[in-house]
Amino acid sequence: MSEANAHRVAVFGAGYVGLVTGACFAELGHDVTIRDVLPGKIDALRRGEVPIYEPGLDELLERNRERLTFTTDVVEAIEDAEFVYVAVGTPPTVSGDADLSAVWMVIDELPQVEHRIVVVMKSTVPVGTGEKVRHRLDARGLGHVGYASNPEFTAEGTAIKDFMEPDRIVIGAFDAADADAVEELHAGIDAPVVRADVASAEMAKLAANAALMTRISFINEIANVCEATGADVVKVAEAIGYDRRIGKSFLRAGVGFGGSCFPKDSLALKQLAANSGYHFQVLSAVIEVNELQKRRVVGKLQELLGPLRGKRIALLGLAFKPNTDDTREAPAFVLAGRLLAEGADVVVWDPIAHADGFHGVEQVATVADAAREADAVVLVTEWPELADVEWEVVAATMRSRVFVDGRNMLEPEAMRAAGFRYSAIGRASNGTV
Ligand code: UDX
Repeated sequence: MSEANAHRVAVFGAGYVGLVTGACFAELGHDVTIRDVLPGKIDALRRGEVPIYEPGLDELLERNRERLTFTTDVVEAIEDAEFVYVAVGTPPTVSGDADLSAVWMVIDELPQVEHRIVVVMKSTVPVGTGEKVRHRLDARGLGHVGYASNPEFTAEGTAIKDFMEPDRIVIGAFDAADADAVEELHAGIDAPVVRADVASAEMAKLAANAALMTRISFINEIANVCEATGADVVKVAEAIGYDRRIGKSFLRAGVGFGGSCFPKDSLALKQLAANSGYHFQVLSAVIEVNELQKRRVVGKLQELLGPLRGKRIALLGLAFKPNTDDTREAPAFVLAGRLLAEGADVVVWDPIAHADGFHGVEQVATVADAAREADAVVLVTEWPELADVEWEVVAATMRSRVFVDGRNMLEPEAMRAAGFRYSAIGRASNGTV
């Protein structure tokens, strides 16, 4: 990238989204300053330590070290910046609305800059937030500061690839020149650019997540009907996935979705609709189906083992999906809580995520340790290493050989041959043909 095309970008927030955004913009040749309020985090980043687990992020930060600065100081971050990316957390409040206090703090902390900068919203926010930010900037005498919405669609574990090779880039702005500037910042990325008004860009993010969650709850309900009627959801998903109008992705039945985005964003959209006087029925059902899905495994265990009091249950996987240490809204925790409430002893294994602070749950270092003397093993997160376990060796160490595959990861026939009473999600016909 030529000097002329390199821009100065300040990123507020050094969480998953901020670090990935900052590292990727640096990779594209821009000068990036990442600002966070937590001094410990900034000190660690300056030392070259990456506070989160995201494959490839540490190499990317290291490779672009000379284009990256880390600071807690707002003025230092904004100095000479042309863009201020807002990538702070927007967690749900007790009412289900998104908590925008960190966003407002960034807007209110902006110094009285003389030059034109564009504030770009990367955090997921309710529709209408851009409009409110615009008013607040104007009220603060920052009418010359631009505003754009540039939502992220990155998934944890593949965030860098998702940023550098996205399906699309969405840019919503009040002023076409700001949208042009944000688009130029992405030069070097080959993807369709959807230009929109700010509200539509904000809604695009929420709608994309809602569509993906709807697919998951849909296939989970199909799975539950498969169980009741003798079909195999894995075959059904394969069969419908070939339909180009439907497509293959997000049709894996399992113990439900979790993570830092889906549960929070579904609530936020439901609440946004409700606040505007609309009852979003499909989304309400999607959320409810997911809550019930996380608990269905308990019923399966009761069917196979009887009352669970005193039974030792091993949960394999804590992270809400593989290749991340993120346990936010992870189904494993709901499951563990339900099992403890039934009086079971719960032992968990995960290659990188921790059950710290989860009272009553014992975490062990290996799959073998988790399964030893267990009455049942539940596969909760489809960690790739679980494909290579010698399951017949594991089965031999168990008290009762019950295996519930919460992600339909393993071959039913092979697991039965290994000695298990094997049950999966929506595979009543046992996965055989
Ligand atoms: C998601 C979106 O994919 C991303 O675009 C958005 O920016 C943030 O939210 P992420 O939460 O990282 O990303 O994970 P994702 O891979 O989408 O999985 C979310 C959850 O859905 C996981 O718990 C996963 O196990 C579950 N899932 C996914 C299913 O149960 N079945 C599927 O077919 C796909």
